[in-house]
Amino acid sequence: MAPMIEARGLTKRYEPARSERRLARRGEPTSEGTLAVDDVSFTVEEGELFVIMGLSGSGKSTLLRMLNRLVDPTSGSLQIGGQDLLSMDDGQLRDVRNSTINMVFQHFALFPHRTVRENAAYGLQVRGVPEKERLERAQTALDTVGLGQWGHVRPQELSGGMRQRVGLARALATDAPVLLMDEPFSALDPLIRRDMQDLLLGLQAEMRKTIVFVTHDLNEAMRLGHRIMVMRDGRVVQLASGAEILAAPADDYVANFVSDVDRSRVVTAEHIMRPPIITARTGEDPRSVLDRMGNAEAIGVYVLDEAGKLIGAVGDQDLADGIEAGCPRIESLASGTFATTSPEARLIEVMPLVGRHCVPLAVTDDDGKLLGVIPRASLLNTLADQRRPAHA
Ligand SMILES: Nc1ncnc2c1ncn2[C@@H]1O[C@H](COP(=O)(O)OP(=O)(O)OP(=O)(O)O)[C@@H](O)[C@H]1O
Ligand SMILES: [Mg+2]
Repeated sequence: MAPMIEARGLTKRYEPARSERRLARRGEPTSEGTLAVDDVSFTVEEGELFVIMGLSGSGKSTLLRMLNRLVDPTSGSLQIGGQDLLSMDDGQLRDVRNSTINMVFQHFALFPHRTVRENAAYGLQVRGVPEKERLERAQTALDTVGLGQWGHVRPQELSGGMRQRVGLARALATDAPVLLMDEPFSALDPLIRRDMQDLLLGLQAEMRKTIVFVTHDLNEAMRLGHRIMVMRDGRVVQLASGAEILAAPADDYVANFVSDVDRSRVVTAEHIMRPPIITARTGEDPRSVLDRMGNAEAIGVYVLDEAGKLIGAVGDQDLADGIEAGCPRIESLASGTFATTSPEARLIEVMPLVGRHCVPLAVTDDDGKLLGVIPRASLLNTLADQRRPAHA
């Protein structure tokens, strides 16, 4: 399937200010303007939540605005939903903006003398949707963002977070499959901001919108983004999942961003698991298993069946006792306690499971197959990394 958004070599050079153009006519030296976005290529899949992140002035807003041609690219190509956006005339562009792309800004105007419902319906009004239908669709969108009861009041009766929800409802009411969001939550205080992030994640999972979300907050980027594109001086420095960026930042600029991220909420079990040093197979002679454990300095071992499915765990003392009692089969001894987790579990969920058993935490798939283990030390190591300076 073709990606929803495909940008190739997108570049934007802002022309020099008018005063400079006057200098240029007189043959005096001027600047070249500002190269705000420089040869940026990426694709966004349908239903993806794609985050653009970078410091102030790195070109995020310029790039986002090129995606619906609020800013015209200097060069490059851009396809949205298979349509070539850059070759469109004003009429075609208006159609695409009406049907396909919507935008939510950090600051947007609510009309003070219209009700919340009328404000939410505004995007439909400019698209020429008849009043009855647009108020119904606005009400549905308000229900979706948890403002169903507030449709009849005026915006000034709402808190900042609620007003931002009206902006979101306004965008959702239009049913456009692509949503462009430029720091929509950055003016909100942290708790409300988290609520809004949760709301957006919920909506996105349910409605499968394609969302391009700009932020300069890495924690927000990590929470929201399926993938994160990090920008610096108009160029892409890294494009990867949050966990990949944490595990291997592309350069010092990214490493500096990453240094104060809470890894426990981003990195998953899959990223820190490793192969077990030793495992036993069903049917194996307990004596040889104990031997191998001794060599590996292991105090416990997982027992797996032919398919690699985890049957149980046994500690060295129980194994020795079993051998003493003449037990011929390892699996009948595998009654030790252990803990398992899924590869997708975040470290914050994994932490309480680690370290109380004779075997490291097991990471298993849906069929109970052992994928890897997480020793206590490697978990602590990963969590400690973030307390070290980025350049150490
Ligand atoms: N309309 C404009 N005319 C001239 N230069 C501009 C214009 N808009 C942005 N720029 C310049 O382009 C560069 C990128 O700006 P842009 O607003 O895209 O960055 P940003 O990453 O969104 O920053 P912020 O985090 O502050 O919003 C900056 O150097 C900025 O000064
Ligand atoms: Mg910006």
